[in-house]
Amino acid sequence: MVTSLPGSTGEQCNTHRFAKMSLSTIQNTTPIVVTGASGYIASWLVRYLLEAGHTVHGTVRDPNCMERVKHLHKIAEGLPGTLRLFAADLLREGSFDDAMQGCEIIMHTASPFLLDGFTDAKEALIRPAVEGTRNILEASNRIPSIRRVVLTSSIAAIYGDTIDARDIPGNLLDETHWKRFDTAGRLFWNMNTQQDYEEAVRIWRTENA
Ligand SMILES: NC(=O)c1ccc[n+]([C@@H]2O[C@H](COP(=O)([O-])OP(=O)(O)OC[C@H]3O[C@@H](n4cnc5c(N)ncnc54)[C@H](OP(=O)(O)O)[C@@H]3O)[C@@H](O)[C@H]2O)c1
Repeated sequence: MVTSLPGSTGEQCNTHRFAKMSLSTIQNTTPIVVTGASGYIASWLVRYLLEAGHTVHGTVRDPNCMERVKHLHKIAEGLPGTLRLFAADLLREGSFDDAMQGCEIIMHTASPFLLDGFTDAKEALIRPAVEGTRNILEASNRIPSIRRVVLTSSIAAIYGDTIDARDIPGNLLDETHWKRFDTAGRLFWNMNTQQDYEEAVRIWRTENA
């Protein structure tokens, strides 16, 4: 994985080449929503989608905050696709509806990804991740054009310790595996965020089965 933002000249690794190839095979008949568009992963998604000629509905909390979005405008310059930015907050119900209108695919990456600068980790990280994912999924049920929601998860949601891998046949972890212990207060907070985020998806699947 490269750590540079899109727009820099760093050599792209296989992960990026694969992502680029996959995104260019999506039909560009309807706009695609990318939540948290200003973020690291989302900025690469935006770039690849614009390169492939898509219209991207990028959500950010404040489209007028140039410090957060200027790199997106720079990426969009000269690329065949079209970028439209929408204001949306994970904790505001219905916040993503405008961005989703007429779209079939949502790529949901918006999530607080913080290492410090907060006192209450549950409030700063876990609540926005879980309630935000739920809001996105509920909105996707309300908006008839939406066909697919893609969530960015993390290895941290399925793998907490080396013992997890040791006990898996073939040592191969996939989407059927979940981290088996509660790490709250013990490990890096984002692991719990991811786990709760996945829990929101599980609840949504149960409620909509
Ligand atoms: N980076 C990695 O290598 C990696 C690996 C595995 C999984 N992931 C997962 O992928 C997702 C994105 O990661 P990232 O590294 O791209 O994070 P990031 O650079 O911090 O981007 C996350 C974006 O989420 C938005 N956001 C934060 N709080 C929000 C809120 N309350 N409402 C609406 N938007 C909010 C922010 O946009 P604004 O401030 O502009 O609103 C921010 O740009 C996370 O779920 C992360 O756990 C990342």
